[in-house]
This record gives sequence, C-alpha cells and structure tokens, in this order.
Amino acid sequence: MILITGAAGKTGQAIARALCKRKQFIRVLVHNDKQAQMMRGLGVQESIVGDMRSQETMNQAARGVRAIYHICPNVSPDELSIGQAAIRAAQSAGVGHFVYHSVLHPQVEAMPHHWQKMRVEEQLFTSGLATTILQPGPYMQNLLAYWHDMVTTAKYAVPYAADTRLSHVHLDDVADVAATVLTEPGHQGAIYELCGTDILSPHDIVETVSRYVGRRLRVEVIPIDQWEASARKRGLGVYQVQALRQMFGYYERYGLIGNARVLQALLQRAPTTFAQFVQRTYAANPAVR
Ligand SMILES: NC(=O)c1ccc[n+]([C@@H]2O[C@H](COP(=O)([O-])OP(=O)(O)OC[C@H]3O[C@@H](n4cnc5c(N)ncnc54)[C@H](OP(=O)(O)O)[C@@H]3O)[C@@H](O)[C@H]2O)c1
Repeated sequence: MILITGAAGKTGQAIARALCKRKQFIRVLVHNDKQAQMMRGLGVQESIVGDMRSQETMNQAARGVRAIYHICPNVSPDELSIGQAAIRAAQSAGVGHFVYHSVLHPQVEAMPHHWQKMRVEEQLFTSGLATTILQPGPYMQNLLAYWHDMVTTAKYAVPYAADTRLSHVHLDDVADVAATVLTEPGHQGAIYELCGTDILSPHDIVETVSRYVGRRLRVEVIPIDQWEASARKRGLGVYQVQALRQMFGYYERYGLIGNARVLQALLQRAPTTFAQFVQRTYAANPAVR
C-alpha cells in the first residue's frame, strides 16, 4: 500500500492515476468526503479524511503503508510543519520509502514557498528515512486556469514581463516518474530535477496557442498591484499573496530554468512538449474555440 498525502489536488490526482495504471494499492489523505469519493472514482482503494496539520491524522494515514508520496497543499504557510508531521508519522510507522514532492530550485530563499520546501528536504536528510525528492518545474497544466479567458478574450494576462522564461513540465510526465520511483528499485537517496524541454516565456506560450486555436492572441502584462487586488478578491490569504508576489518578482528578474535530461532519462522517452500539451488541450475543449 502507498499513501499519497494532499492527494485531491491536480498533482495528487495525476500521481494516483499513474499508480493505478501500475495496479498499485493506494491510500489517500484528503480534506473531505467529496474528495474521497472523487479519488475512489480514479481507482484508489482507501481514503483517510482529515487535516494534514494534525499529527494524529498523519499517523493514522501512515500506518501499514510501505511508501509515502508526500504532497503539501500549494503555497501553504504550514509547509514545514506539515512536512515534519509527515516525517514523524513515517518514522513511527516504520515506512520504508518517503518520496517528497518538492519544487525546482527550492534553494531560493527569495521565494518563501520554495524555501519552505528546502527546509523540509533538509529535515529528510536527518530523518533516517529512505527518501527520494522530486523537484518539478512549473506545470504546463497551470495554463488551464487561464485557458477559457485566453481563447475567448485572445489575451494572456500575466503579472511579470512577457519575455520571462520558465522551464515547464507536463504533469503526467512528473506522475510517470513518481510512479517509477515508487514501484521500481534504485531511487532511494536521489534528488531529481524534473523539467521538460520547453523553456517558455508568455510570448512563446501565446505563439503556440495562437497556432493551434487559429487566431492571434497577445500577452497582456498586468501591474502586480492589480494582480494582488484580484487575488485577494478570489480569497487568497496574506501568505499566499506575499509568496506569489515574491515569486513573480523573482521570475521576472531571473526566470526559472532547469534541464530536461534527468526527466528524459527517467522516462526513457522524450518528455511531452508544450505543443503536444496545447494540441491535446485544444482537442479536449471544443467548446472554447
Ligand atoms: N503547480 C505547479 O506548477 C507546481 C510545480 C512544482 C511543484 N508544485 C507543488 O505541488 C504541490 C501540490 O500542488 P497542487 O496545486 O496539485 O495542490 P493543491 O491544488 O493545492 O491541492 C492540495 C490538496 O490538499 C488539500 N488540502 C489543503 N489543505 C489541507 C489540509 N490542511 N489538510 C488536508 N488536505 C488539505 C486541498 O483540499 P481543499 O481544496 O479542500 O483545500 C487539495 O485537495 C504543492 O506543494 C506545489 O508547491 C506545484
């Protein structure tokens, strides 16, 4: 049995699907009953419903599993304490393998949510657990949140410069690697940076999307204060707004650039390209053309 924590988000669902394809028995830790039901629909056998910040919940979830795939909710102010709770649960349950879903360049202190992941990685080194750390770049799938607006208004609105370059990765490639490290020997002690071959700016993104949707899209750079006002309206908390502001500022100054060779070696095939992602997304969303 493998436990996936924080399992009902897009990352956890992709990893559950990849593990189900490999006929693995999966337990998920989710926030509510609706999420448990949704995960059962993906083929997951067991679910624990609770709050990841509770040590008791973590202990209950970790009991009897051979491996944990730990995913912290995105931009959580509690990432370090949640990570510590997951590590303690794994230690007391005698879990054989702890895989941590980190991020590309957790070493960057200027991005608080990256830095919290670095601190969790550091705790893993001294935990005595057999560990593997995955460090994915930004997912291509992040674009799905903008897709409808993009193709209906012909604008891609971002709060950083249009030539800011980021190493994107397809989430299903990340999930394939997660399933590999959880089910095949030889990955303990490894830290894998996971980036696709596309290093893309918002300009590059609209170029590719324009090509597939058959109309000219453009990038709209919005002021960071305007982004913040709309993020607050959407209910983002103080920590999230501050961390994401810092992230956008860092992106604009330095980009976020990794290398695809580790991903390619682990997949034993070429990583999915951004053009393939756009083509499939467009084909799957005929309503927004
Ligand atoms: N997006 C990217 O490009 C990217 C790249 C690299 C790494 N990552 C990392 O990937 C991880 C997962 O991101 P994601 O966007 O897939 O996840 P997510 O959408 O934030 O999903 C997390 C899940 O955890 C649940 N949750 C939140 N607080 C909880 C709590 N206290 N107890 C139990 N469950 C709780 C959420 O449920 P509710 O909806 O009920 O809150 C949600 O189902 C993050 O750590 C992120 O940093 C993301």
